[in-house]
Amino acid sequence: MGRFMITTPIYYVNAPMHLGHAYCTIACDAVARFRRLATDDVFFLTGLDEHGGNIEEKAVENGVTPQEWVDRIAGIDRGILADLAISNDDFIRTTEDRHRVATEEFWRKVAGGTAPDGQSNIYVGEYEGWYCRSCEAYYTESELDEGKCPDHKIPVEKVKEETCFFRLSSWAGKLVELFDRVPDFVLPDVRFNEVKGLLKEGLRDVSITRTRIKWGFPAPDHPGHVIYVWFDALINYLTAIGYPDPKFRDRWERGEVIHVIGKEIMRFHALLWPAMLMAADLPLPRRIFAHGWWTVNGEKMSKTRGTGLDPREFAKKYSLDAVRYFLLAEMPFGHDGDFSERRLVERYNSDLANDFGNLAHRTISMAFRYMGGKVKRPAGPCPWEAFIRGPGGWPDGDHAGLYAGIKSDQGLSFVQSAFYRFAYGPLRIPQHQDALSGIWRVIKHGNKYLDTEAPWNKPPERQEEILGQVLLLLEAASWPLLAFIPDAALKLRRQLGLADELPPKPVRRAPLPEVFGLSHGDPLFPRIDTKKKEKK
Ligand code: MSP
Repeated sequence: MGRFMITTPIYYVNAPMHLGHAYCTIACDAVARFRRLATDDVFFLTGLDEHGGNIEEKAVENGVTPQEWVDRIAGIDRGILADLAISNDDFIRTTEDRHRVATEEFWRKVAGGTAPDGQSNIYVGEYEGWYCRSCEAYYTESELDEGKCPDHKIPVEKVKEETCFFRLSSWAGKLVELFDRVPDFVLPDVRFNEVKGLLKEGLRDVSITRTRIKWGFPAPDHPGHVIYVWFDALINYLTAIGYPDPKFRDRWERGEVIHVIGKEIMRFHALLWPAMLMAADLPLPRRIFAHGWWTVNGEKMSKTRGTGLDPREFAKKYSLDAVRYFLLAEMPFGHDGDFSERRLVERYNSDLANDFGNLAHRTISMAFRYMGGKVKRPAGPCPWEAFIRGPGGWPDGDHAGLYAGIKSDQGLSFVQSAFYRFAYGPLRIPQHQDALSGIWRVIKHGNKYLDTEAPWNKPPERQEEILGQVLLLLEAASWPLLAFIPDAALKLRRQLGLADELPPKPVRRAPLPEVFGLSHGDPLFPRIDTKKKEKK
């Protein structure tokens, strides 16, 4: 059983999460759920980044204290995660005391050590630069976009203050060595190349404290300084697994750690964070994966500008699974995409209602019509054996810990390898789109099989065999789909009469029954009548 830790960024609390944040969280949730089905020991972390000048300002604007403000947004965000069926194992908030303890310890470790050039890792200096309040970051003149923040397009302020610096420049050589040693440390490659480009240009030391802001942890041994949000925020990944208690090493050192982030916060994760960890003499995560952005009508969704879509609105209208499926199947992980409700409805109707839901519904309905809902498992060869299970079956037998034994994708069927790559492969993971399109090829195949075999024209024995084969397909498809569209997949497995044991219990996939004892259910994805909607 592998130890696996997957993290989302921790979200700012200037406003509640929007669909863009939900995307990253759902993408990680699918990986976490999938690895749990594979009986891995999974730790899935998400949470909130609650310090900084932005929050101080928000609180003043709303006439509350910063603590009241962060508690308010944290309550809303927890509700959103629950509504999206996110299966996180912890929810870290950077204002928690456990994080103060971890941050102080981490600071002391870094401050007590020396950089590769023999000088102290942290030193006091004066910083002058262009400061964007939304990014909580400084920019140089050349990085600005017509004098504005390149990300938020808002005016920046010229700021000069005493600050503690982290000697990032001195860690550049070690970062080069790291990137040579671990060629897939950052994925996708296009992002890795950007990071390597930044490194080549040379790294400046990073300002890691503020004197003008109060809402943060006081920097140890530097009265009047609070720790800068990014330095504080990155440490959350360690806090949640118990740092500084040595037990954090069970996951951090003896397990696989993957950070999933949006592409715009790459430099903090791929340059600053590894350097901070090396300076604290700690091991590094296995990989950083940067995904792209969802735009709406070509515009970036922004909390600051209030253009963020609420994922719950679409979940209420079309079901949560529809939103999860659309976000994961529509946009290749790592690329950008434009969100549109029309496209969501199109994919809902074609993939979920017509292909998947319909295959389940017509098969189960016929099974009731022709054989009272009891269907013998067919004895003959399965038409999709090679698609689903590969010629040799799943590597470690039919069912027990289905994916657990897969160590290489040699000799696997395309569905197996899509899922294998999705969950374990070194290059393109997690590639939700591939895994889903693999399973959809088989689902479409099932519909075609029903059409050509036409059980309605066949004698009862043959009818039972045909329907039995499709039930085998539905069983095979619904198992991995528990990670992507958990409600519908579970509903279907219950309709197929399968009693799995699912996380948080130790996972046990129900053995294939000799006779499928089916139960009736509503269609998993009732078709959306677009004409009616348009008329209204
Ligand atoms: N607090 C920092 C992260 C600290 S991690 C140690 C932060 N917060 S954020 O709330 O601004 O953004 C969090 C994540 O949401 C980023 O990875 C960002 O890319 C992602 N997204 C925000 N809007 C998005 C879209 N429209 N589309 C996809 N992801 C988006 O940065």
